[in-house]
Amino acid sequence: MFDFIEISGGRELSGEILASGAKNAALPVLCATLLCSEPVKITNVPNLEDVNLCLRLLDTFGAETGFNNGIVEVSVPSLKAAEASYSLVKALRASFWVLAPLLSRGGAARVALPGGDIIGARPVDMHLEALGKMGAEIKVKNGVVFATAASGLKGAEINFRFPSVGATHQVLMAASLARGTTLLKGAAREPEVVALADFINAAGGDIEGAGSDTIVIRGKEELAGANFSLIGDRIEAATYLLAAAASGGCVTVAGVNPLHLRPLPDILLQAGCDIAVGRDKITISSQRRLKPLKVTTAPYPGFATDMQALLMAALTIADGVSVIEETVFEGRFGHVAELCRMGANISVRDQVATITGVECLSAAPVEALDIRAGAALVIAALAAEGTSRIYEIQHLRRGYERLEEKFSSLGALIGKRLSDPEDYLLTGC
Ligand code: UD1
Repeated sequence: MFDFIEISGGRELSGEILASGAKNAALPVLCATLLCSEPVKITNVPNLEDVNLCLRLLDTFGAETGFNNGIVEVSVPSLKAAEASYSLVKALRASFWVLAPLLSRGGAARVALPGGDIIGARPVDMHLEALGKMGAEIKVKNGVVFATAASGLKGAEINFRFPSVGATHQVLMAASLARGTTLLKGAAREPEVVALADFINAAGGDIEGAGSDTIVIRGKEELAGANFSLIGDRIEAATYLLAAAASGGCVTVAGVNPLHLRPLPDILLQAGCDIAVGRDKITISSQRRLKPLKVTTAPYPGFATDMQALLMAALTIADGVSVIEETVFEGRFGHVAELCRMGANISVRDQVATITGVECLSAAPVEALDIRAGAALVIAALAAEGTSRIYEIQHLRRGYERLEEKFSSLGALIGKRLSDPEDYLLTGC
């Protein structure tokens, strides 16, 4: 027996939902609690599989953790271990980010290499080079990174060839307890990087320039504790906005900074939707069939790769031919074959998808391959005629809090079901 999500599509969406706290801000902030000698309280934390895995990871280093009603409390008076196993890093890539705090606070770390996944090869060379520049001795053997810095890390000048989000997180954490000042050029500018810097500063760190491509981090001997609230999840917000764009209707997503969604509001305007922006909310009105678009993914403030599958799902029923180029992850088109099973007309060559809009998608049993590919299928199923089933929903549970409840409140017919293995064989998924 296993769960799937059933969606009867073809209904307009309307109403208001509240975005959850951002998963991709929660994970680095939770890793950074390992830097803090005093208790930390984080609010607006989404109750997601990835967050719970991250808390389990912190436990292995001797952290005392509690998670209730969106509030996480973490206390790590001292580090009791220095190793993140392959099974943890495999289950949660972001586990690799503990490398920096373990090294800068404890002087040693053994962390399994995350390896590639469905969206790309995902090397970590920039993480390791940066830590090496800060004085860490690094060896990679049998798929494990062994890093030591017996006399502590030191500030350095680091230049990134590409604004990697994860490598930027790693440097912010490492440099915050290093001796001296670190100058990071070519840094990622994502709102989640700013959130991590804000958290470290709230705990007594000294980081300047987060949100720009040059960040200065003045190392401290110790970080204390902090009370910190997470930003709203811009990717989750984009999911609801793009679902409304595809299904038609009028939907408001509150609890998110519209600037963090850049450039999606402009893209939706170009596609023929009406957009109204408030201080912490955004409203979309859509007549359903979008105008075709040409969009390229890029690091923030470019169009987020995490929104690529979501936008593609909405464009499958656009009135014309759209083109989406993926420049961040080479393999991020896993959703295409499943969308085509629902009647979409998409061809992919190199990193470019050409989406010829069809009038209507038809319901089908489909399989989520990763979080955003799964969310793209939800958007497609909401817009399609008939009843679709989405399998492998554990991917959605990693990134979407109360997904069915939120979509139901907007008028969608969506629910979790339990099927037996014979059903599964019949659907051929
Ligand atoms: C994070 C996000 C992910 C998002 C991505 C880009 C989390 C948990 N994950 O992933 O949802 O899609 O940012 O916005 O926050 N690269 C290298 N060498 C490195 C590091 C990265 O070549 O050392 C390459 C990657 O292979 C990829 C590109 O840089 O092609 C971007 O990766 P990066 O920004 O590091 O993504 P993540 O931090 O893994």
